[in-house]
Amino acid sequence: MRDSENLDNSRTEFFVVALPGLEDLVLAEIAEWFPDFTAKAEHGGITVFAPLNEGLAMNLVLKTATRVLIRLARFRCKDFPKLFNKIAHFPWEQWIDPACELKVHPSTRLSRLKIKSRIVDACEDGWMEHLEKSGLKAKRGRVANLYVRFLEDECTLSLDSSGERLHKRGQREFVGEAPLRETIAAALIQLVERKSEDPRPVEIVDPMMGSGTFLLEAAIRDQMIEKRDFAFETFNCAAVPTPRLRTTRPHVHALIGYELDKKTISAAKENLRDARLEGGKVAEILNGDFLEAQPLPKTEAQRWLFCNPPYGERLKVKEPLADLYAKLFAAAEKVVHPDLACFLLPSKAVKGKFVLPPNWKVLEKRPFLNGGIPVTAFVFKCLR
Ligand SMILES: C[S@@+](CC[C@H](N)C(=O)[O-])C[C@H]1O[C@@H](n2cnc3c(N)ncnc32)[C@H](O)[C@@H]1O
Repeated sequence: MRDSENLDNSRTEFFVVALPGLEDLVLAEIAEWFPDFTAKAEHGGITVFAPLNEGLAMNLVLKTATRVLIRLARFRCKDFPKLFNKIAHFPWEQWIDPACELKVHPSTRLSRLKIKSRIVDACEDGWMEHLEKSGLKAKRGRVANLYVRFLEDECTLSLDSSGERLHKRGQREFVGEAPLRETIAAALIQLVERKSEDPRPVEIVDPMMGSGTFLLEAAIRDQMIEKRDFAFETFNCAAVPTPRLRTTRPHVHALIGYELDKKTISAAKENLRDARLEGGKVAEILNGDFLEAQPLPKTEAQRWLFCNPPYGERLKVKEPLADLYAKLFAAAEKVVHPDLACFLLPSKAVKGKFVLPPNWKVLEKRPFLNGGIPVTAFVFKCLR
């Protein structure tokens, strides 16, 4: 492979970081907002080619992505002097404030340069050289995050354009005991959405809502993220355009959540206070044991249920998990009568068969890691 630098702003190479196992969902979300971009899923993310300012706009709307990197350069590198020189002589002013501080995030596999601390040192020394030869003094407080990745002696330099990871929406301030990462909740909502061919409006129900992540993500699904900062806001580039969703999705018409724990309920209420649906409608939050709840009233809408129950790890469970989940499925059918249901369950608990309501059919089983715990997302179609 030839050494390359990504200097053509009309066709910038991005890498959109995704949770392994959810890459196809991030790819599909990119296509829904940015159908003109060239995008390809790889392990751990999506490579995207797009004009610089348009690609940066991915930060504003993608709900399933972890962060958006710009791939600045790719080169063969087996020694530290070459790495030093690349950093010292790279045209940084084309991208960022050339007087900012540089924070280096190294990773290395199957490469001659193995020691991460020495990779960081070589980059930092190269950065000092760049400042010196440009006659600049590092400005404190403005930081560029550079991801330096070695794989089989090929080095890729990637600049972070997101800042804090994108699951931080600037919105969910209060969390319960075992909160779900927002990007996972969003990915599961989109997974279910793509299984549905029903155009009717949707009621979203979470029987064990904790701090309300599924409901919040359903409420902000098509909105821009505006309550936080992004690293790209200090980049040298043309104005970042406001993206437009290029697909129609079933309209979210109501949000309903149950929660047993009083303290967690207050967190959910705070989080969902500003999450309003069309017409100013707010989420309905029900305090109590879902397993004992009365059936919800009949509705003209379709119902999608999302549930991330306790796994018996951070949140303890007295009975065998398989028994709890069988009760949960039965209560879900009786109380919610959903059209589609998605449960995120620890993989250890679902190795064998489990008891499902007879009219439920498995549409998808998707394994991935949730905070280091192997989990499987099950999507069920509930036949009527
Ligand atoms: C893993 S947490 C859910 C986290 C949630 N997805 C979030 O992001 O915050 C499970 C939640 O279920 C609640 N819970 C457990 N048993 C319940 C029951 N029978 N009825 C209602 N809530 C229950 C717990 O109090 C806990 O908040």
